[in-house]
Amino acid sequence: MAAPKYTGKIEWPTKIELGRGLEGAITNETKIGYVDGEKGWLVYRGYNIFDLAEHSSFEETSYLLLFGKLPKDDELSDFKKKLVGYRKVPEVVIDVLKSIPKEVHPMSALRTGVSVLGCFDRKAEEITPKNDTEIGIKLISQMATIAGAIGRIRKGEPPIEPDPELDHSANFLYMMNGEKPDDFSAKVMDVSLILHADHGMNASTFTCMVVNSSLTDLYSSVCAGICSLKGPLHGGANERALAFLLKLKDEENAVRYVKDCVSQKKKIMGFGHRVYKAYDPRAKVLGQYSQKVTEMKGMGHLYKIAKKVEEEVIAAYGEKGIFPNVDFYSGTIYYAMGIDVLMFTPIFAVSRVSGWVARVLEYLPENRIFRPRAVYVGPLEERYIPIDKR
Ligand code: ACO
Repeated sequence: MAAPKYTGKIEWPTKIELGRGLEGAITNETKIGYVDGEKGWLVYRGYNIFDLAEHSSFEETSYLLLFGKLPKDDELSDFKKKLVGYRKVPEVVIDVLKSIPKEVHPMSALRTGVSVLGCFDRKAEEITPKNDTEIGIKLISQMATIAGAIGRIRKGEPPIEPDPELDHSANFLYMMNGEKPDDFSAKVMDVSLILHADHGMNASTFTCMVVNSSLTDLYSSVCAGICSLKGPLHGGANERALAFLLKLKDEENAVRYVKDCVSQKKKIMGFGHRVYKAYDPRAKVLGQYSQKVTEMKGMGHLYKIAKKVEEEVIAAYGEKGIFPNVDFYSGTIYYAMGIDVLMFTPIFAVSRVSGWVARVLEYLPENRIFRPRAVYVGPLEERYIPIDKR
């Protein structure tokens, strides 16, 4: 059959404004979280992030994100029991993690671990809000176990069993470091997990939602979220931010580093945000903890250098709305706590899985597959040329 001729100009239905990186695009309505980038506000289900960071726990915040209300005493205790009950992962997951080459990035190992986990859940393919809620709770619990095991394996140490007596954050630290954390370290990790749990339609959350909108299983959607979070423009910025801070020996060095970046128009990791044009509230909380933790661990100079970098970047770019983001101070905290730098982004994932699951579950009852269009600007009238005539 002869191919019909496609001729004429492509007509797009309306005037199209191209927001690069989908800037300004709206995906859906949500009651889960709100970011006001101009005011520097972050809200989960109506509660402001400063309030939650000070008073809540990661378990309670996860419940809030998932079920839309702060739990009553018995509800929280049931939810915690469920999380504890799910902590242990099938041995095959640990075996696969052990077989991964040591030099592989822990986010790739985490992605693999979650993928294997899904293969051993017989109900993975039952896509209903009820079943996906249960899988979501399992994932919140088990991603900490998998990340903890990855942390141990990277150090050449055997993974350890979860401790049912410890809260989520304390157990996560224990599984990663092999030592029961002191109360302050557990609190710092808990605050960090609360702060990272949800953040609007960021790249990894959007990725999870797009993938899940095809009604695939939740393990696949969360794997996709992990892949997206790994990148240096998203969750991966925390390890890069610390890497450059560690190279700066003093505050003078910090001033020079920022000046060089500015003159070379080089992006400074841990700064800037698509939505925030004011100071990221999460960085405000983490900055305070960074000062406390680094001083406690005899690394106060690291905080001073970071603070100097912040001052210099704000002096250079503050008018443009570039301030520290969540990834700037988190690395200094984890580093002072003795955590392997490459584990920083997995820690982020251990927290953000709550937001991923909450948003996927919110969308599921009225699911519609995501299907945007791209504006085609290529030709129409090319004709096939046999290979020997090209
Ligand atoms: N340092 C210096 N300049 C910056 C920075 C930065 N960190 N971030 C943005 N800018 C500048 C850009 O050079 C650009 O300037 P121009 O308009 O003169 O060309 C302008 O600000 C806008 O930058 P974009 O990259 O277009 O902003 P976008 O909204 O696409 O990106 C992003 C946001 C990816 C976070 C960006 O600020 C960035 O790359 N930051 C560094 C990486 C980082 O810290 N990522 C973590 C973000 S938080 C999170 O994901 C958890």
